[in-house]
Amino acid sequence: MTDSKNQIKFAYWVPNVSGGLVVSNIEQRTDWRYDYNVRLAQAAERNGFEYALTQIRFTAGYGAEYQHESVSFSHAILAKTERLKVIAAILPGPWKPALAAKQLATIDQLTQGRIAVNIVSGWFKGEFDAIGEDWPEHDERYRRSEEFIQCLKGIWSQEQFSFHGKYYQFNHYTLKPKPIQKPYIEIFQGGSSRAARDMAARVSDWYFTNGNNADALREQINDLKIKAKNHQHQVRVAVNAFVIARDTEQEAQAVLQEIIDEANVEAVQAFAIATREAGAATKEGEGNWAKSSFEDLVQYNDGFKTNLIGTPQQIAERIVALKALGIDLILIGFLHFIEEVEYFGEKVLPLVRALEQQQLSASASASASASA
Ligand SMILES: Cc1cc2nc3c(=O)[nH]c(=O)nc-3n(C[C@H](O)[C@H](O)[C@H](O)COP(=O)(O)O)c2cc1C
Repeated sequence: MTDSKNQIKFAYWVPNVSGGLVVSNIEQRTDWRYDYNVRLAQAAERNGFEYALTQIRFTAGYGAEYQHESVSFSHAILAKTERLKVIAAILPGPWKPALAAKQLATIDQLTQGRIAVNIVSGWFKGEFDAIGEDWPEHDERYRRSEEFIQCLKGIWSQEQFSFHGKYYQFNHYTLKPKPIQKPYIEIFQGGSSRAARDMAARVSDWYFTNGNNADALREQINDLKIKAKNHQHQVRVAVNAFVIARDTEQEAQAVLQEIIDEANVEAVQAFAIATREAGAATKEGEGNWAKSSFEDLVQYNDGFKTNLIGTPQQIAERIVALKALGIDLILIGFLHFIEEVEYFGEKVLPLVRALEQQQLSASASASASASA
């Protein structure tokens, strides 16, 4: 058996924001409210998902009219599950590190070490304007996020924490109780620009990137791993994908086509304008949404590009190929969440585990014959 440490991991997007994961008028059997989310979380942990990711939004974009706050919602899901780890999105600016560290340490204590955090750096200027927050330019937002992460780690792991940065200051601060997780709560970060990668290579446990094709992912991972090595830092990689798994490839492709045909054109176009504050705004023009077409943006984290659309066998083979590129976790969005989480757990996941096992046996016999 492949050791679970060596298995690729799966997360799902918590729909704590209304409107579903695609900006389309197609029917989406999902719900942003709590009761649905509890049933979904329980189905996900029964079906092999180790992580769930909440989103943070203060104002609506692209039709996402209602948005539950991410930290309290994550805690509420943890209270109704047993094994799932929930990643709460946090936005430096509205949050300060002292408050975030304290909130998350308490949740970690209350949930036997099952909270994680996703530090997001902001892409939606309209949101920051609406809540009266400053809007530093793109790379400066990452400098602030990096200090934020340094502070979280220091507060969680040091007896007395002092820090004198551009954005945050601490003087011999002692947090008690500390989190259960050691040395500290797992830290993810979302974003794909050069600044995002530089930050991940220095301070983050996980680099979370938008969906993309294999070549673009390979480039990002190579760049990230070289930089991380230079900093003697270890970072794992997670990628977004919108999964459409159906018994036949034709069915899966037909669903994709219908999502795009039914796109909410006005909302996608408004989203496309807002995203220009993100990766495309950097001088190198890289990062999330920098090269996304209208069709790509219908799934607002470029999830179609990862191409996990087809039969369970096709999807399982592509997942194992992503693992070979250096991907450690796949974050998944679905059209009809609960039923597709169950289909994924029953039909796709066993094939992934079987392929991983075959690869392990093949490499074991290759190394045995090399040493014979
Ligand atoms: C997996 C993932 C999850 C994200 N979640 C959020 C979120 O909940 N709230 C938010 O404001 N931004 C979120 N972002 C956006 C990023 O923090 C970042 O602002 C955006 O990706 C642009 O970054 P870039 O210019 O470095 O590519 C997320 C990004 C990714 C990849």
